[in-house]
Amino acid sequence: MRVVLLKKIISVVGARPNFMKVAPVHHSFQKYKDKINHLVCHTGQHYDEKMSKIFFEDLGMPHPNFYLGVGSGSHAEQTAKVMIEFEKILLKEKPELVIVVGDVNSTVACTLVASKLNIKTAHIEAGLRSFDRTMPEEINRLLTDSISDFLFVSEESGLKNLKKEGIPSKKIFFVGNVMIDSLIQNLSKAESSGVMKEFGLTPSEFILVTLHRPSNVDSEKFIKNLILLFDRLAKKRKIIFPVHPRTKKNLLGFGFKSGNDRILLTDPIGYIDFLALTKNAELIITDSGGIQEESTYLGVQCITVRDNTERPVTTRIGTNHLAGTNLKKVEKTAIEILNGKKKKGKVPELWDGKTADRITRIIAGYNGRSGSETMRLCEMGNG
Ligand code: UD1
Repeated sequence: MRVVLLKKIISVVGARPNFMKVAPVHHSFQKYKDKINHLVCHTGQHYDEKMSKIFFEDLGMPHPNFYLGVGSGSHAEQTAKVMIEFEKILLKEKPELVIVVGDVNSTVACTLVASKLNIKTAHIEAGLRSFDRTMPEEINRLLTDSISDFLFVSEESGLKNLKKEGIPSKKIFFVGNVMIDSLIQNLSKAESSGVMKEFGLTPSEFILVTLHRPSNVDSEKFIKNLILLFDRLAKKRKIIFPVHPRTKKNLLGFGFKSGNDRILLTDPIGYIDFLALTKNAELIITDSGGIQEESTYLGVQCITVRDNTERPVTTRIGTNHLAGTNLKKVEKTAIEILNGKKKKGKVPELWDGKTADRITRIIAGYNGRSGSETMRLCEMGNG
C-alpha cells in the first residue's frame, strides 16, 4: 500500500508547561527521520532562563528552529504578537502540519493562524474542560479544539466533552498523556538529582507548593492568608515553594516577606529537580494543571487550590483532592492528609509512557483518509 507521508511538521511551544509535552513527541519523531522533518517554534511567551532554557536542556530538546520572542503583555497583545510572527514563519516554511499542546495563549494563537492558512493542525491534550469561562485557558481550549484537525485526548472526560460539543469522532484520538511520557523518560535522572540534599529535605517529610494562577495570586487578601497558612503548616512539615514570576512580582508588590526558615522560597526549578521534589513530597499544594497529573501518576497526595479541575480523572481515581480556593478548607484537608487520611489512587488509562509513539504513528500514517480510518490502519501496522 502506497502511503503519502507528511513531510514538514512544526510544533509550537510557548510557556513552561508546553516543553515537557512536545519533548516526547520530538523524540518519537526521530524514529521517522526519513519521513518527517520536525521543527520546533518557541513563541517566547515564557522567556526567563528558569522558565524556559533549563527545560530544553533537561528534556534533551534541540535549540528551537524558530524563536518569536513575544514576551509578556496583556492577553490580546501576547496572542496578537504570536499570531503576527507565527504567520510569517508559516508563509515561509509551508509545513503540512502544525502541532500545538495544552491551553496557553500561544496554543490558540498558532492554531488560528495555521487554520486560516489551510494548514492542518493537531492539538495534544484536547477536550479538557473546567467549564469555567472566566479562566483564559478554558477559552484557549474551546477555540483550539473547535478548529483543530487532529484532537489527541489524554483522559476519558476529554472524549465525552468533544463529542458533546459536536466534534466529529473521526478527528478524535484517545492516546493518553504525553506529559507522563516525559515523566517516565526522566524518572531515573530525577532519582540522582541533588535537589533534596541542596534544600536539606527528607523524603516524604515535606510539603511542595506551587501557585501562580492570576485568580489566586493577584489578590492581596489571598496572598496574605496564604502566608499565614504556610506559617501554621510549617510547624508540622518543612515547606518548599518555587515561586513563579507572577507570584514573586505580587509578593514583592504587596510587601510580603517570609522570615520563617521552615518555608524555603526559591526561584522556579528545572524539570528534573522539580520531578525529584514531586516524587519525594508527602503533600503537594498547587493550582497548576500538570502537577495534578504528575502527582496522580506518582501516587503523591495533591491538594488543588481551585474550585474546578479540567482533569477530573485525577480526583476520580487519582490522588488529587480538589479543595477549592477557601484556604480554611485547604488547611483542613492538608492536616487530614498529614495525619494519614490519604487517597490510594490508580494510574489512569493509557498513562503508560507510550502516548507520543501513538501520536507519531497516527500522524505518520495520515494520508488524507478520515481520522478513524487512519487510526485503524495504524493499529494494523500499515501506518
Ligand atoms: C501561563 C499560562 C498558564 C500556565 C502558566 C504556567 C496563558 C493564558 N497562561 O500563565 O496557562 O499554567 O503559563 O507557568 O497562556 N514572566 C516572567 N518571566 C517569564 C514568563 C513570565 O517574568 O519567563 C512574568 C510576566 O511578565 C507576567 C507573568 O510572569 O507578568 C505571567 O506570565 P504569562 O505568560 O502572562 O502567564 P502565566 O501566568 O505564566
